[in-house]
Amino acid sequence: MRVLITAGPTREKIDPVRYISNYSSGKMGFALAETAARKGHRVTLVSGPVSLVSPKSVRTIFIESAAEMACEVRRLAKSADLIIMAAAVADYTPAKFAKDKIKKTRTVISIRLKKTEDILAGLGRTKRKGQILVGFAAETSELLKNARLKLEKKNLDWIVANEVGKKDRGFSSDNNAATLISRRGKKIVLPLQSKKSLAEKIIRILTTEHTEKH
Ligand code: PMT
Repeated sequence: MRVLITAGPTREKIDPVRYISNYSSGKMGFALAETAARKGHRVTLVSGPVSLVSPKSVRTIFIESAAEMACEVRRLAKSADLIIMAAAVADYTPAKFAKDKIKKTRTVISIRLKKTEDILAGLGRTKRKGQILVGFAAETSELLKNARLKLEKKNLDWIVANEVGKKDRGFSSDNNAATLISRRGKKIVLPLQSKKSLAEKIIRILTTEHTEKH
């Protein structure tokens, strides 16, 4: 299968020396890419800035902002059989980029933000027949309810619901727990384990689903 995976955070520039980002380390997305490649799939990874080494036999493309990720993913999605969006794409970006470093003159300043493009929702609208589209849902409350809403709203085949905001899982941790929910209502609970072992299970489930669909 031709597999497209996203990983890591995006950086949204405020001025030449500052940006808005999040705590994504890229570990989850890289583990998925490494596993899929080891299983013999043709994998392309689009990643934000991380300090991880590109997995063996994976074509890795590094981007910085949500807009750059949108551009690459849109281009690569056309030829992908399975797309897994594990990246933590910024939902907002500064409305204006200050071309000079913002001076420390005022006690309080505000930065106006505008919404970024929802890349996954866009892929849901242009999904090819037979293409499997998988999103992640990073939630701090009402995990399954919010994940199901994203699954429907973004026209996904599967969503990987994971809890964030805890030290032992989610962002940056080596471990994670997830519940996979399919559009047909299948629910698979994967308890807390290393991201590598979780990735094995997720890839097995998603590639079996592909076989079943064809
Ligand atoms: O990188 P690690 O440190 O290993 O951490 C892993 C992780 C916690 C980042 C990962 O498991 C995870 O949950 N990734 C998704 C994070 C996220 O942005 O979730 P969300 O619920 O806000 O977004 C839902 C989906 O829409 C995601 O698939 C996201 O990639 C996608 N999205 C979001 C915003 C946007 N503008 N475009 C998108 O495509």
